[in-house]
Amino acid sequence: MTPQSEEIYILRRDGTESKRLDKQHEFIQQYTKPLFEELIPPGEIFAIADIGTGTGIWLHDVAKMLRQQYPTAQPRRYHGFDISADQFPITADDEFKFTVHNVLTPFPAEEHGRYDLVHVRFLLLALAKDQYQTALSNLTSLLKPGGYLQWEEFDNRGWTATPHTGPPVLFEICRIMIAGIAPTGISLSATETVLEEVTKAKFDDTTITYHSPIGEPQLQGMALDWLRAAASVMVSRSLLRTGEESSDADAVRRAETLLDGCEVECPEWALEVCRVGRISGRKALL
Ligand SMILES: C[S@@+](CC[C@H](N)C(=O)[O-])C[C@H]1O[C@@H](n2cnc3c(N)ncnc32)[C@H](O)[C@@H]1O
Repeated sequence: MTPQSEEIYILRRDGTESKRLDKQHEFIQQYTKPLFEELIPPGEIFAIADIGTGTGIWLHDVAKMLRQQYPTAQPRRYHGFDISADQFPITADDEFKFTVHNVLTPFPAEEHGRYDLVHVRFLLLALAKDQYQTALSNLTSLLKPGGYLQWEEFDNRGWTATPHTGPPVLFEICRIMIAGIAPTGISLSATETVLEEVTKAKFDDTTITYHSPIGEPQLQGMALDWLRAAASVMVSRSLLRTGEESSDADAVRRAETLLDGCEVECPEWALEVCRVGRISGRKALL
């Protein structure tokens, strides 16, 4: 049986994780920019839903960009949905709304067909492979006919495909994460799974573009910081899940030691493993 969302999701939702998500956004913006794929015309976007919004950082950046570069008298609406309110920002801005909703359940009828753009980012640790179709069907219901979808995922083949070469420390990090996370049924190739589902759902103009900081040495430091923050949570939580460690402190210590080794022996892995795939498409007109 497919596990429930809360059994799959390995990340926390505390203040540290919120800061990590905001920093991660800042890092990936350096090499995934612009915020919208080419297909999406910013001047025609007035209502945006962000699914699995977390801290809402992507929505806020989009609002800033549209305000500055595409000023208009027509009001814009930004709606973040997430299975948990724990990381929602405190906002008094009327343009923004944040609602608790599990993407695996249908959205309320009043939300159907209201949005010009639906954005999704980084649900790869939250969905089992066989849940993408349901998630896509639910979020498609939010779009107006002709509305746009942009779904971004890390290309997790960077760690799910166990390396056959490279230093033992890399092999060990991947082994631990696969043992802790793969049994939940997540897709081992999230970008390809999204692409397959969007193609099957017959979106128009479906494309996938990959974005990576390889070849941008000025991003190496940020990439290492990102890897340290993301992998130490994933490795330590995996060690606890599999029972290889029984205390949080020991699991964190072991994860940190492995990441110290990785930083010395294979720092370039940080640049490889943060590759992002962006799938975009357009809901068919009626
Ligand atoms: C890795 S965070 C990404 C947050 C944000 N999209 C970003 O890129 O900064 C994944 C988010 O998805 C949310 N999430 C997990 N399962 C979900 C579900 N079934 N439906 C909606 N949101 C979910 C989590 O609570 C978390 O906020």
